[in-house]
Amino acid sequence: MKVCIVGASGKLGRYMVQHCLERGYEVVGVCRPGSVGKLAPYADRITILPGKTNDREVIRKAVAGCDGVLSVLVPWRVQQYSSGTAQAVLDHAEPGARLIFSCGWHITRDGRDVYPWTFRLMLKVVAPLMRLARFAEIDDQIEACRRIFASDTRWTVVRGSDLEEGESQGLPVWSRHVGDPILASNMTRRVDFALFMVAALTDDTLVQEAPAINGCRTPSALAHA
Ligand SMILES: NC(=O)c1ccc[n+]([C@@H]2O[C@H](COP(=O)([O-])OP(=O)(O)OC[C@H]3O[C@@H](n4cnc5c(N)ncnc54)[C@H](OP(=O)(O)O)[C@@H]3O)[C@@H](O)[C@H]2O)c1
Repeated sequence: MKVCIVGASGKLGRYMVQHCLERGYEVVGVCRPGSVGKLAPYADRITILPGKTNDREVIRKAVAGCDGVLSVLVPWRVQQYSSGTAQAVLDHAEPGARLIFSCGWHITRDGRDVYPWTFRLMLKVVAPLMRLARFAEIDDQIEACRRIFASDTRWTVVRGSDLEEGESQGLPVWSRHVGDPILASNMTRRVDFALFMVAALTDDTLVQEAPAINGCRTPSALAHA
């Protein structure tokens, strides 16, 4: 299995590199030129392509010959970073490749997610402020996912809960809708978010699904599994 990790130098990206190497996968990592050093511990075991993840030419080269692509979608700055990244992957990945994208619970596929009012208020107030300050563009992550949902490729959009660091607890549980009781604890270890992304590469039941995930050892997961 040859896997491209788009956004490999971030926290989630590096955990995904680790899980892929443990499985014996060949890894190609894309990260911003200034972040190549963060991948130093893996430099002799993976191929690193420096470049912005929304650079279509970088992505074209990186995904060539890959059976799977793991993409970290982030909304940082006002530069269509998420949608540019997603579009480049959708356009250039090999036909039939498994395409796994990361995002948060705020993304909804069918509008049937039920969010706490505090979460809705935060999005309504904080998102425009972040855009105004040119700090982040949440709308663009939503646009990226709209394009993925409309695509006929073999995609999965993994929607992360709140995250924490710590030892792996195992593969997170998932559900189609935020608000489902199994997700109530809203906490996943980042290392297990990465585990879910990597496991999705070989799980065809997740093709064209947008699982919302939650840690498998959280109270709500244990109560409802
Ligand atoms: N943080 C949370 O609480 C949370 C919750 C739910 C879901 N998620 C999702 O989890 C995924 C990973 O998020 P994370 O918070 O854990 O962060 P992360 O894994 O550390 O990843 C951050 C990524 O953003 C890149 N980045 C940082 N600043 C940037 C900029 N100005 N322009 C372009 N790229 C920039 C980083 O690249 P460099 O290495 O080059 O800096 C890195 O690849 C995302 O898809 C996010 O939506 C996060």
